[in-house]
Amino acid sequence: MNSDTPSLRLDSLPRHIAIIMDGNGRWAKKRSLNRIKGHREGAESVRDIVRVCREIGIEVLTLYAFSTENWQRPRPEVSALMSLLKGFLRSEAAEMMENGIRLSAIGQIERFPGDVVKVLRDIIDMTRKNQGMILNLALSYGGRDEIVTAACKIAADVRAGRLQIEEITEEVFSNYLYTQGLPEPDLLIRTSGEMRISNFLLWQIAYTEICVTHTLWPDFRREELIRILQDYQKRERRFGMTGAQIKKAPRRQ
Ligand code: IPE
Ligand code: IPE
Ligand code: MG
Repeated sequence: MNSDTPSLRLDSLPRHIAIIMDGNGRWAKKRSLNRIKGHREGAESVRDIVRVCREIGIEVLTLYAFSTENWQRPRPEVSALMSLLKGFLRSEAAEMMENGIRLSAIGQIERFPGDVVKVLRDIIDMTRKNQGMILNLALSYGGRDEIVTAACKIAADVRAGRLQIEEITEEVFSNYLYTQGLPEPDLLIRTSGEMRISNFLLWQIAYTEICVTHTLWPDFRREELIRILQDYQKRERRFGMTGAQIKKAPRRQ
């Protein structure tokens, strides 16, 4: 870690950080640029934030890159986002291998163009044995879609006799979600000031700490993430209990 991170305690970092990377369009508009330029600059923030998270030892970083609702955007913008994603994956593959990053993806991946799906699947496969940070990309992701998809899979298992209705607990339900096997996010960051969730990880954020910053995503870099982590470390997560109970047994998991 750098000398600019003196008061960050490495023993109480979030295991899982989830980010709603918002504000690329506004960043471009402020500069009278095309929205696509904003997305391109946003990819630089992704590079920077992935690096910092890996360096400080975050276990999982989930980035909201494309929502189920984002398909409704103008076609040229959607296409530009697809090719940016493909370019990003290709350019980062070597660094992911070098740094032991394991790539994963949640969402309706099959809705993406074949060439993007191929690059994505190839890199997921290439990095599957890596033991370092999991970089989890939310692509054509919607929390409601995820929950409905899980409900359908559960119904199919019940119908086929593989699962009894009485066996359906919160834990079992979680295992049918795209995020199966991942810890729930400890910290959710949204850039560009909007106070909403926009269909992101609806089930998983039940007890996640939330931080909304006004910074637009292309301007969001290392220093601000470190400041947010310092703030996170000052919070008391109570999970419905009293402060006194938490002081006795500080961690839920
Ligand atoms: C986030 O930036 C990127 C995606 C949703 C793909 P936006 O494109 O939403 O930027 P704003 O909100 O218009 O500024
Ligand atoms: C959320 O941002 C989705 C992503 C960051 C991928 P949006 O820009 O799509 O959200 P809304 O439309 O402002 O709620
Ligand atoms: Mg937006």
